[in-house]
Amino acid sequence: MSSNVNIKLNKNIILAVTGGIAAYKSAVLVRRLKDYGFNVRVVMTKGAQAFITPLTFQALSSNPVHTTLLDPEAEAGMGHIELARWADLILVAPASCDVIAKFAQGLADDLLTTLYLATKAPVWIAPAMNQQMWAAKATQRNLKTLTEDGMHIIIPDAGEQACGDIGRGRMPEPEALAEQVFEYFKTQERAYTQQFGLLAGKKVTITAGPTREAIDPVRYISNHSTGKMGFALASVCYAAGADVTLIAGPVTLNTPYGVTRKNIVSAQQMLDESMYMLNQGCDIFIATAAVADYRVAEIAPHKIKKTGDTLDIALIKNPDIVATIAQQEKRPFMVGFAAETQNIEQYANGKLISKKLDMIACNDVSRTDIGFGADENAMTVFFAKKYDFDQRQLEKASKLKIGEQLVEAIVDALNTKS
Ligand code: C5P
Repeated sequence: MSSNVNIKLNKNIILAVTGGIAAYKSAVLVRRLKDYGFNVRVVMTKGAQAFITPLTFQALSSNPVHTTLLDPEAEAGMGHIELARWADLILVAPASCDVIAKFAQGLADDLLTTLYLATKAPVWIAPAMNQQMWAAKATQRNLKTLTEDGMHIIIPDAGEQACGDIGRGRMPEPEALAEQVFEYFKTQERAYTQQFGLLAGKKVTITAGPTREAIDPVRYISNHSTGKMGFALASVCYAAGADVTLIAGPVTLNTPYGVTRKNIVSAQQMLDESMYMLNQGCDIFIATAAVADYRVAEIAPHKIKKTGDTLDIALIKNPDIVATIAQQEKRPFMVGFAAETQNIEQYANGKLISKKLDMIACNDVSRTDIGFGADENAMTVFFAKKYDFDQRQLEKASKLKIGEQLVEAIVDALNTKS
């Protein structure tokens, strides 16, 4: 399953199951929807209960199953109007010919058809039926009406059917349906954060991970950076509405959802990509990468042989990426990182000035519980003098939580800029 599943959307889904053999797939669908973090309540028609029991859905959804409209006990729990309001989306899967006809007519003679009329939430249907019934003029006419009414119809798959026919009418697999629901909410959430998020409308470039400097075709100089802090910041910036590009050295992490990733190997490549992003338009540049300070003066064209007892390799200084970007005319808001073992404040302020940064986040790498490779971090943030901000202490927390506090610090500083 994709890493997207890590993003939990706290949305309420009503899964309505109607009478059809595909109802067995709906049990798995409940599980897949819950994997995405959705709250699921199941509504069953009378027909559905001929194929699968409410108990199955109760166990899978961890919620009572709703089966009748006029049951005083059920209405006392969560009545049909309350249920209609609770839903962020109603997914009818499988949707039988019969319920499609009822929806098209506006009938309200059971719980599901009443919910359909009583809800403001989007209603999706996944029709599943014999291919001849799908193709029938009445069905197609009803579907046309429902499309015009704003309902989202998930076109059935074609293939072998339970009745032995071959044709269109199969309910799509639960994984595909759950993914469609997830993508729908992600897109909605994105539209919202792009308009109202803390970094709405901002273009952010982040460097992350180590760089690798070749010695010969098989060897290189590098460091232990894993890229976790930069990747966490990238996902926080995306969630805050930014358009994020991550320039990543060789690391084994998955690309955060929604983020554009550019893989590089050497410091020079990281600088080239950074300059490219600057020219594309960049509002905030965050340098979390552990760039190799030196590279080999001349990379050997062939593997260096083991000869003498010692080996001298001449190194030359790599360009300072963050300092180079900060010197450009159209400079973005510049954020640096520093790993120190002592005199944190003094060194941090020195780097703020020498690299012309707006903000620098420092961690104490003499501590073994934070920093390189760890999932947690603790930092002190310093701002350039012009912001007139006191330093901020970010107490030990997950790199995601630290990332959120860093974004808040960036936004505070940006808001003070005239
Ligand atoms: O000087 P120092 O390596 O401690 O500075 C760390 C900060 O500068 C980090 O933000 C790092 O990503 C950035 N840096 C850079 N290019 C270099 C060296 C460091 O962008 N060559």
